[in-house]
Amino acid sequence: MQKKLIEILNEIMMEVTQHQSTGEVATYIPELTSIPPDKFGIHLYAVTGDNYGLGDNLEKFSIQSIAKVLTLSLAFNLEGDNLWNHVGVEPSGNSFNSLVQLEYEKGIPRNPLINAGAIVICDILISRLKNPKLEFISYVQKIACNNNINYNSKIVESERNHGYRNSALINLMKSFGNIENKIDDVLDLYFHVCSIEMSCEELSKTFLLFANNGKIPSTEEKIMSTSQSKRINAIMQTCGFYDEAGDFSFRVGLPGKSGVGGGIVAIHPNKYTVAVWSPRLNKKGNSSRGIKALELLTTKTELSIF
Ligand code: DON
Repeated sequence: MQKKLIEILNEIMMEVTQHQSTGEVATYIPELTSIPPDKFGIHLYAVTGDNYGLGDNLEKFSIQSIAKVLTLSLAFNLEGDNLWNHVGVEPSGNSFNSLVQLEYEKGIPRNPLINAGAIVICDILISRLKNPKLEFISYVQKIACNNNINYNSKIVESERNHGYRNSALINLMKSFGNIENKIDDVLDLYFHVCSIEMSCEELSKTFLLFANNGKIPSTEEKIMSTSQSKRINAIMQTCGFYDEAGDFSFRVGLPGKSGVGGGIVAIHPNKYTVAVWSPRLNKKGNSSRGIKALELLTTKTELSIF
């Protein structure tokens, strides 16, 4: 990796960690409250295989909603464009677990990266796969080139016991006929998906296929078409940060996805992926330091997709 890029990552880490981070860790999933809030890790993986990370970049954390991109990619592969009859591709402009639009848009979620949309995607995976939990984690392990990626059962139970909003969302969608399978089965898959743990190193490596037109760089296996990879990046660009998607786009200028575990992954197509982890979240549920670090990266390198 270029020396300049390594120096820039070092500078970013110094800059973002020298001040007390603002925000709070997510509390509505009790198991997430035990995470030390001032962790910070960053890891950048180039499509060439060069990679470099700093801080807590090797420590696993709960990737939460970041995994919605992975369920989307598998469902898109299995279902093709029929997917868009069940879920839209417009930014919601609302929080990730909002119920309001679903009522007047007749149970069709705005996009696959808000909770309602990801729940619909899980329903489609259950209809398509024989053993959805096992087949999904095997898919993730394949694209991550790593059999050590797994669900965390404590997080699953914590979400299941406090998933009131997700229950409301799925019940509303079921009433509109947009959920085919049993509510408990769909939520069980959804909570498992959200509980996946990865380090920044693992996360940046897993997302390389979206920077490489749908092909895993190290194995050269083509997982999705170039067009599908383009569309997933476009959805991340417009919908990856819920009601902060415009602000993230304005500040960072890359497609990306956040999770309430404090992780963010961003993609520079044909160049690299970068993952950051810092658990304190801003009011929109996105990592405060994470966004700052990525803004500094594209500003200092003078490289973004724009
Ligand atoms: O369903 C939930 O609310 C969480 N498992 C995921 C939410 C999430 O990560 C939103 N991200 N910013």
